[in-house]
Amino acid sequence: MFPKSSVRQFSSSAASAYKVTVLGAAGGIGQPLSLLMKLNHKVTNLALYDLRLGKGVATDISHIPTNSTVEGYGPEDDGLAKALKDADVVLIPAGVPRKPGMTRDDLFNTNASIVRDLAKAAAVNAPKAALLIISNPVNSTVPIVSEVLKEKGVYNPKKLFGVTTLDVLRSSRFLSQVVGTDPTTETVTVVGGHSGVTIVPLLSQTKHKDLPKEKYDALVHRIQFGGDEVVQAKNGAGSATLSMAQAGARMAGSVLKGLAGETDITEPTYIDSPLFKSEGVDFFSSRVTLGPEGVKEVHPLGTISTAEEEMIKVAKETLIKNIKKGVDFVKANP
Ligand code: NAD
Ligand code: LMR
Repeated sequence: MFPKSSVRQFSSSAASAYKVTVLGAAGGIGQPLSLLMKLNHKVTNLALYDLRLGKGVATDISHIPTNSTVEGYGPEDDGLAKALKDADVVLIPAGVPRKPGMTRDDLFNTNASIVRDLAKAAAVNAPKAALLIISNPVNSTVPIVSEVLKEKGVYNPKKLFGVTTLDVLRSSRFLSQVVGTDPTTETVTVVGGHSGVTIVPLLSQTKHKDLPKEKYDALVHRIQFGGDEVVQAKNGAGSATLSMAQAGARMAGSVLKGLAGETDITEPTYIDSPLFKSEGVDFFSSRVTLGPEGVKEVHPLGTISTAEEEMIKVAKETLIKNIKKGVDFVKANP
């Protein structure tokens, strides 16, 4: 018999019971990300969808004794619709990864239609879900999803997130390596987008704003091109998967905390942002407070250095093109 108090506690925590769906769940990111979501106690229903192996991954993960059901789906028997039905949070790591010599933008031709079609299914089956987009090029795939949702009449800009958390993780790690500190104590806000020069770490807002120029330049470059390090090391077998799964699980965990009404939950993330709309930059990553409705507050950049101002200027020029490419794609291929 459980003591009464623990029974009460269990039933009240059921108020924050969430369905999380992973689309692309059997991939390099999808598998460890699904595992990490199985370990998140806010998740009571985990739905795993992939073109192949969705059921296999789900059966494997379902043996872990945490308090959630796990269901696996493939494209047969309306699997995508079932996986998405009434989800609270949808994570999308479906699509192809880079090989050495490619930019993230080189993935556009393949991934744009994958993300568009998954967004269409989400619009119908989970119109109120928070959508977390991992598939690259994030700078363009997020505008693709927004355009699809607009066409379907269910766009809620507070519930659409481009996952840029890996840049945040890398910044903490790489900065700590340069200054010789514990990475868990280093928090870096990263703004802009998720590719090369659009990734702008605001190092001037950390405790280490006076790094010598050479070290600073090398650190910024490493953060901006950290993805290439992994692509080259994997030598044709893909890009970051394990660190990305950790990043995706952190972002999803923060979104879930916000939905559950926990306070002061902030993450940098790429959203439909008011910050530079007047300059034609409709999506921009900055620190965002998360709440029960998704985005609760978009924080301004705050005080930044001249070098950061210059980087943001460059980032905005690229972002405008990346965003237009995504929007134009949906208009031409609805
Ligand atoms: P992967 O090839 O290992 O896995 C992709 C999975 O998607 C595969 O299992 C595949 O079957 C599945 N898939 C393809 N089309 C699908 C569809 N229509 N519906 C459902 N599933 C589908 O690739 P990966 O290493 O997991 O990377 C996935 C994506 O994430 C890539 O685009 C990559 O560039 C991106 N990525 C983003 C970040 C980031 O920081 N946002 C980091 C790393 C990778
Ligand atoms: C990353 O930053 O690791 C991802 O965007 C994958 C890539 O292509 O670099």
